[in-house]
Amino acid sequence: MLHFEPKDLPQPQVHKIMLGGIAPRPIALVSSLSEDGIPNLTPFSFFNAFGSNPPIIAFSPARRGKDATFKDTYNNLIKTKECVVQSVTYDMVEQISLASTEYLPEVNEFEKSGLTPIDSDLIKPKRVKESPFQMECKVRDVMSYGKGGGSANIFICEVLKFHVAEDIFKNGIIHPDLIDLVSRMSANFYCRASGQAVFEVEKPVLKKGIGYDNLPSFMKLSHVYSANNLGKFANIEKIPDEDEVYKFINEIRESKLENYEPTEEAFFRYRKVKNYRYMLKALLDIESENHPKLKIYLEMTAKIALESNDIDFAWKTALYTEKFYSTNKIK
Ligand SMILES: Cc1cc2nc3c(=O)[nH]c(=O)nc-3n(C[C@H](O)[C@H](O)[C@H](O)COP(=O)(O)O)c2cc1C
Repeated sequence: MLHFEPKDLPQPQVHKIMLGGIAPRPIALVSSLSEDGIPNLTPFSFFNAFGSNPPIIAFSPARRGKDATFKDTYNNLIKTKECVVQSVTYDMVEQISLASTEYLPEVNEFEKSGLTPIDSDLIKPKRVKESPFQMECKVRDVMSYGKGGGSANIFICEVLKFHVAEDIFKNGIIHPDLIDLVSRMSANFYCRASGQAVFEVEKPVLKKGIGYDNLPSFMKLSHVYSANNLGKFANIEKIPDEDEVYKFINEIRESKLENYEPTEEAFFRYRKVKNYRYMLKALLDIESENHPKLKIYLEMTAKIALESNDIDFAWKTALYTEKFYSTNKIK
């Protein structure tokens, strides 16, 4: 590990390290107006949401690194107190990067970036048509820390009106694949928050999982389960008892499966296509041969069931492996 206090490093280095470690960050594309009515459009990734009642968001146009002067967005918002904050999608990322150029205050970044201004309903700054998620905002507070380059000026804003494209919804939620957001990382890196990059973790909201500390010790000893696997196992409310496990195992043992083959080779074929039911059946059929790797194979099966969100199957398979460990009984 590197260990340092920020006062011992030059500011640009502290900034770089923060950008690398605090990522990915959502990007606010902020549209504001100068007192003279000149439009400004700028991306800020020191940005997030902080409450929904009322809806509060904040972003920080920091002082310029090179000379500690205030950015145009800061100067505009201190005076006019209105902005539209929009989310940034993959389709517009090159244009918002262009809008981040340090143009003079009199330059309209809508024109420079080629993004399309459209009227807002409640405030004067324009919205960006290309963004599917736009928020008309009023500045509620500004909090500044420091006077040098890179020092924070946090604009805390209340959202007065949302504009959300209907075609980014699926099953009542804004779906990551449809909104296709991008976020900012360090240096020139961005991150696309859709497709393979997106995954689900079940919220432990409506139930109380047993917790890692209550997992049977033989499961924690496994070399097959990852830390994430154990975390997911620990989100169950009640561990199945021994009777449930053996009833389940017998059902699988006696099940009739189509095109099924009871061999180790077949087990690996089933593993390739993540067919954990066939994997378990094959293992139960070769169990009598006292195969030395049976424990590991059973854990591989439980892992695939777990990662396929068949938690009950995963737990019962995992508990069945206990008989191959020399530790204590199922808890
Ligand atoms: C994706 C992205 C995120 C950025 N985030 C920030 C930020 O959070 N704070 C900041 O001060 N500058 C940030 N910048 C740099 C500003 O956009 C840049 O300094 C801009 O010229 C300021 O414009 P303005 O003077 O018109 O307000 C970011 C740039 C990009 C491309």
